[in-house]
Amino acid sequence: MTDTTLLDLDRPVDRPLRTLVDPFQRAITYLRVSVTDRCDFRCVYCMAENMSFLPKADLLTLEELDRLCTAFVVKGVRKLRLTGGEPLVRRGIMTLISSLSRHLRSGALDELTLTTNGSQLPKYAAELKALGVERINVSLDTLDADKFRAITRWGELDKVIAGIDAAQAAGLRVKINAVVLKGVNEDEFSSLIEWAHGRGMDLTLIEVMPLGDVGEARLDQYLPLSMVRARLAERYQLEDIDYMTGGPARYVRVKETGGRLGFITPLTHNFCESCNRVRITCTGTLYMCLGQEDAADLRTPLRASEGNDLLYSAIDEAITRKPKGHDFVIDRRHKRPALSRHMSVTGG
Ligand SMILES: C[S@@+](CC[C@H](N)C(=O)[O-])C[C@H]1O[C@@H](n2cnc3c(N)ncnc32)[C@H](O)[C@@H]1O
Ligand code: SF4
Repeated sequence: MTDTTLLDLDRPVDRPLRTLVDPFQRAITYLRVSVTDRCDFRCVYCMAENMSFLPKADLLTLEELDRLCTAFVVKGVRKLRLTGGEPLVRRGIMTLISSLSRHLRSGALDELTLTTNGSQLPKYAAELKALGVERINVSLDTLDADKFRAITRWGELDKVIAGIDAAQAAGLRVKINAVVLKGVNEDEFSSLIEWAHGRGMDLTLIEVMPLGDVGEARLDQYLPLSMVRARLAERYQLEDIDYMTGGPARYVRVKETGGRLGFITPLTHNFCESCNRVRITCTGTLYMCLGQEDAADLRTPLRASEGNDLLYSAIDEAITRKPKGHDFVIDRRHKRPALSRHMSVTGG
């Protein structure tokens, strides 16, 4: 079992404070936390082959991550998603999850979940379920082992499938996320739909976003989801449904399979108006928007005192700066990444 002695679980949790509301009257109830920028894969749309990672000394400790997440829970966050990099390669990650799960038990948090590449799930799936994680997102862009190796630069498809098997066997609900890549997996969406729905899993397709220099032209990777949807509509009956998970995906039901298919379309359809999310990095930087540079340093107020008052003030001030939305563009005039930081830093 997980060793929680590393964390001070007896630290009292402050009384709930008023929920965070941004200048556009959006309540901030969803926090995504990138617990590491490191990963065992190097997906071509996410990282360059020779990535330089943040110095380990700059990382928040597990205890600091716990304190930071708890501060957001006190301020009204109801859903916490751990991401990365690959969250399950962070040393001690189960200690952190075990500690955060007290907020599920107290009822302060509705959901504790994670986005993972699946490679470590054979090791951790059962423990995640035991700690109160109910569903997870697993990223998988292809069912072809050679293509999988090419996309991830060295990942093994078998291991990820074994991870998904382990997650389902443990009783976790799995949603598959696939990034749509022009000329790479565009012939596979039907097989991915039938495979995922055949196993009782939702599938969400994601437009590639221009984050970080990955050494490839984004225009070569980018395929608008409007086109993908039009093509799928020739083969399947896609029925609009109201299903929402609190994230940015919009869902349809595929009549032939009975399963749900989500679309995350930051480029062709701006989803910002209903944004309820903020993100923190493993060094304690708060990004109020995935698609903007503006950020707030929470590590300094976190480390400045034992109490949380400075931290709460810094969070309040940052939320007043949450922008209305992002302005990602991928076209021939915008060849550079819209933002210099990689997805693995902010977390997907
Ligand atoms: C950065 S990853 C972190 C979690 C975990 N390593 C994983 O792959 O699921 C989170 C999600 O972001 C997606 N992603 C990464 N870079 C992206 C990009 N440039 N555009 C769109 N999605 C991206 C990944 O496919 C994944 O679904
Ligand atoms: S998408 Fe996830 S698995 Fe792929 S390199 Fe980025 S962090 Fe790693």
